[in-house]
Amino acid sequence: MLTATRALRLAASSTRVGSVSQVIGARFGSVWAHVQQGPPDPILGVTEAFKADKNPQKMNLGVGAYRDDAGLPYVLNSVRKAERSIHDLSLDKEYIPITGVPEFNKLAAELAYGAESAPLKAGAVATAQSLSGTGALRIGGAFLSRWYKGAGGKKIYLPTPSWGNHTPIFKDSGLEVAQYRYFDKKTNGLDFQGMVQDLKSIPSGSAVLLHACAHNPTGVDPTPEQWKELSDVIKQKEHFPFFDMAYQGFASGDTTRDAFAIRYFVEQGHQMMLAQSFAKNMGMYGERVGMFSMVTSSAEEAKRVDSQVKILIRPMYSSPPLSGPRIVKEVLKNPALKSEWLDEVKFMANRIISMREGLRGHLENTYGSSRPWDHITSQIGMFCYSGLTPEQVDRLRSEFSVYLTKDGRISIAGITSKNVEYLAKAIHEVTK
Ligand SMILES: Cc1ncc(COP(=O)(O)O)c(C=O)c1O
Repeated sequence: MLTATRALRLAASSTRVGSVSQVIGARFGSVWAHVQQGPPDPILGVTEAFKADKNPQKMNLGVGAYRDDAGLPYVLNSVRKAERSIHDLSLDKEYIPITGVPEFNKLAAELAYGAESAPLKAGAVATAQSLSGTGALRIGGAFLSRWYKGAGGKKIYLPTPSWGNHTPIFKDSGLEVAQYRYFDKKTNGLDFQGMVQDLKSIPSGSAVLLHACAHNPTGVDPTPEQWKELSDVIKQKEHFPFFDMAYQGFASGDTTRDAFAIRYFVEQGHQMMLAQSFAKNMGMYGERVGMFSMVTSSAEEAKRVDSQVKILIRPMYSSPPLSGPRIVKEVLKNPALKSEWLDEVKFMANRIISMREGLRGHLENTYGSSRPWDHITSQIGMFCYSGLTPEQVDRLRSEFSVYLTKDGRISIAGITSKNVEYLAKAIHEVTK
């Protein structure tokens, strides 16, 4: 049999055929000939199209990453300072444990559950540093797939709609995926009745994914009173809640307030899973810092669970990365840096709120749009689920170089005080 190296040599010496792939392909066929071209990622695909656009007024409102008022990526001062102080220590780069740096895990868990959380103090929370929020969801999905014995089976219920990556994450983890009602298209708000009805009618003991705050893509969250009712229903039906908290601090500007649902559910005695991300609230997108945790019934149970989480992680990626969590740990443990970080979270959340107000104001006042736009300001967090149709989204792109996902989701963090009026004009034109 001809080896790949020999084939390459032949290709290089061939005068009749121009490229290596032509020679190998023509004579031997390719091992991967059956692999079909996959579609581009719906969110990252928007960025690709945006990059290719030459219009200087173009806007990328597709990707969920915070931008400053100049439209540029924002590295937090608290993070920069933590980075510098770590650099000066010339630390080693040894492997870290399978479930991460214990001190990071402790601080991240306290941020989510509160330092006074009873199961946390009792050692009943198993934690594993993860590859950001996505990695935490994947660990949880794999754990459910291997160990969940609830009557609802190896299935997880997601809100309709949910973050686009939830379905593939859970399917690839070996779970079936089903939906419960969440968003009401008529009001652009929460379909609370539909949500409760569905949670009551799905099989008892089902695993249910809940967005802890700043729901993506809708920007619509239950109120504290509604969370209390949801906790009751979930308890009565013995469902298993899996909270995804990718935006702690982005909903209200306050990390404690945004952790309300999680802390309330824990107080009510729910066992649960949690996926945390530091991508958005610390601007650590590319560093991939997050945490998976499970509230169990006792320290002894947490230990057993922890041993199985390790068995899941080891063959996936052995152990998590070192640098990002070192930075997050430094910010969370140093009181001055933590306080600066909390101010920066508030600052980012406030800029988003002011862009929401600006967009609505220009639509209603500058351009006199007669459509209802109150949901732009009533929705919270990074996204506005605008209600724009796929055709209107296409027109925004082709006529105004404004890029958003087909579902009409606007990443508000991509708007600046300089282009908010341009966006309002574009939206007004396509919705007349
Ligand atoms: C709802 C939700 N969950 C999880 C994530 C995970 O993000 P990351 O893996 O970057 O932390 C995101 C990111 O957009 C998200 O919107």
